[in-house]
Amino acid sequence: MNEFSGKTVVISGGAEGIGFGIARAMGKQGMNVVLADIDANQLEIAQAKLQKEGVEVLSVQMDVTSLSQWQNVAEKAIARFGKVHMLVNNAGVGSNPGSIEKTDDKDWRWVLDVNLMGVIYGTQTMVPLMKQHGEGGWLVNVASMAGMMGIPTAGAYTATKVAVVGMTESWYAELKPHNIKVSVLCPAFVKTRINLSNRNKPEELKSENEKNTDQNKSSAAQHLQKVVDNGLSPDIVGERVVEALNNKELYIFTHPNYRKIVQKRFKAIDDAFARAESSPLLVSVRDEEVALYS
Ligand SMILES: NC(=O)c1ccc[n+]([C@@H]2O[C@H](COP(=O)([O-])OP(=O)(O)OC[C@H]3O[C@@H](n4cnc5c(N)ncnc54)[C@H](O)[C@@H]3O)[C@@H](O)[C@H]2O)c1
Repeated sequence: MNEFSGKTVVISGGAEGIGFGIARAMGKQGMNVVLADIDANQLEIAQAKLQKEGVEVLSVQMDVTSLSQWQNVAEKAIARFGKVHMLVNNAGVGSNPGSIEKTDDKDWRWVLDVNLMGVIYGTQTMVPLMKQHGEGGWLVNVASMAGMMGIPTAGAYTATKVAVVGMTESWYAELKPHNIKVSVLCPAFVKTRINLSNRNKPEELKSENEKNTDQNKSSAAQHLQKVVDNGLSPDIVGERVVEALNNKELYIFTHPNYRKIVQKRFKAIDDAFARAESSPLLVSVRDEEVALYS
């Protein structure tokens, strides 16, 4: 018996990729699994796979960009399992690689809606349920290594992932008194269909170019696909999430090989503080006590 067994997890984008890897790992721990995903066919396949592994599964087709569809997931989860103890805000899409001039308004909106509003709506819907039953719980937000450093030609994606890291830090402190443990998963490349995210893009948000060409045809996209194809297995990511939740980790990393790159960024930030410390313009605030929340 472990602390997950018999409890219920809701996973957005749980029908495939990293979300399915987490679903499988949490199912192995004895959790009831609610898969919430936009793709009805993949949901059916995922549900059958998990049931074969002995997991209690409910699948609900939904779009994370709709608050009312999140509410529908909550109602169905409560009707079937009684309570929700864990939310994994995993559903996310990759933006088309492109410079700032080439990322159009529709692309920004779609990526912001799915990767940012999807996480906000999910949290707004499920956290009150965890507060109500008072047994505590877990909130796991799936960001990315792009949440730790800016990725060139992926401004929209980076914006959402940095935001998810920031929101997680904010909610970590806010939800602590309710015994809701909050974590952010920041993987680098994982072998999934992230580079074919446009398969779930509403037609009205597609540019003319996108409507007529396969997302995977541009050379930048083909290069990215190769890197993703060589990525970590989603099952390992799922098991790593279980390990990290057992250790109560706030930041969950899956790619220790990126440590040096992130350290370089921290060093640049620390050096910038040192320059501010030595600026004669800032003497008045240099030694002032910082009044911050814990
Ligand atoms: N694969 C990687 O290399 C990688 C790296 C870092 C972070 N991530 C993040 O991991 C998460 C999962 O991505 P993945 O790599 O498994 O991609 P994926 O495309 O394989 O899976 C994404 C899942 O989300 C679902 N989905 C997409 N839009 C949705 C919507 N509007 N509403 C509900 N469900 C929706 C899809 O149907 C799919 O099942 C994303 O947040 C992504 O940004 C992925």
